[in-house]
Amino acid sequence: MTAQTAIKKFAVIGNPIAHSRSPEIHQAFGREMSIRLHYDKILAPLDQFAITVHDFFAQGGSGLNVTVPFKEQAFLLCNHLTERAKAAHAVNTLWMEKDQIHGDNTDGAGLVNALNLLNWPLDNSRILILGAGGATRGVVLPLAQAGALEIVIANRTQSRAESLVADLSPFILQSAQNTSLSTSTLDDLTGHFDIIINATSASLEGSGITLPYTLTFDYAYEMAYGKPSSFIEHAKQKDVPTADGLGMLIGQAAEAFFVWNGVRPSIESAL
Ligand code: ATR
Repeated sequence: MTAQTAIKKFAVIGNPIAHSRSPEIHQAFGREMSIRLHYDKILAPLDQFAITVHDFFAQGGSGLNVTVPFKEQAFLLCNHLTERAKAAHAVNTLWMEKDQIHGDNTDGAGLVNALNLLNWPLDNSRILILGAGGATRGVVLPLAQAGALEIVIANRTQSRAESLVADLSPFILQSAQNTSLSTSTLDDLTGHFDIIINATSASLEGSGITLPYTLTFDYAYEMAYGKPSSFIEHAKQKDVPTADGLGMLIGQAAEAFFVWNGVRPSIESAL
């Protein structure tokens, strides 16, 4: 068997990991692109992330996806980072080159891809993002680079939104100068946005999120998927088109597949 036909080994690493849909998504991409691959789930003990990553690559692994709670540890482990990984301060895609660990963050590209497929307009858009955790950090720069005119971050804890804006502003200045990035408190939200994105973990935790009625928007995207969402219910009551995070999940996987294999699978092949 030549190197070209050898089966490539990939995996997603997290804790917990049993729920992950990444293996089925990447296997569908592999079938579509005629790339032979094996994609596992790795449950890493909370204090053994780095050693588990090194073992995976020492045993010939080609690429690793990283999920909760290890994305920041993955960032710290890398010798080389893409600009979007530096901006996110988190890594969800790892690979080795010349004994050096490389890291990227494909979450934002996944979201942009999902919004493009939905035909929700990003160019010159006003976008409101709820939440200021890792999920928000991953998507701000890609949304700005996709043409957003204004991005407002509203978070329950205002100081966290302010640090996020302070950390991300230099990246926006460098590669998306036309985007203005600012914060708002959840209670003060008012006016009209083109797209509102729920990047809080409220739906995952089973708690709801309440939006002021003075706030209006054309489209509502919930980053969580497979969970009841009061955010989506609220948007539906306003007759606004909604989508959950499945498209983003498949989009980030497609982008990671591209980073590793140099070919871009279609999102539809994994739906
Ligand atoms: P992730 O990496 O998924 O973004 P995180 O860093 O724990 O997770 O951030 C969770 C985000 O959801 C935070 O912005 C959090 O608000 P705080 O910074 O005030 O904690 C937000 N969040 C979680 N539950 C929420 C709720 N019930 N209502 C509003 N915001 C909530």
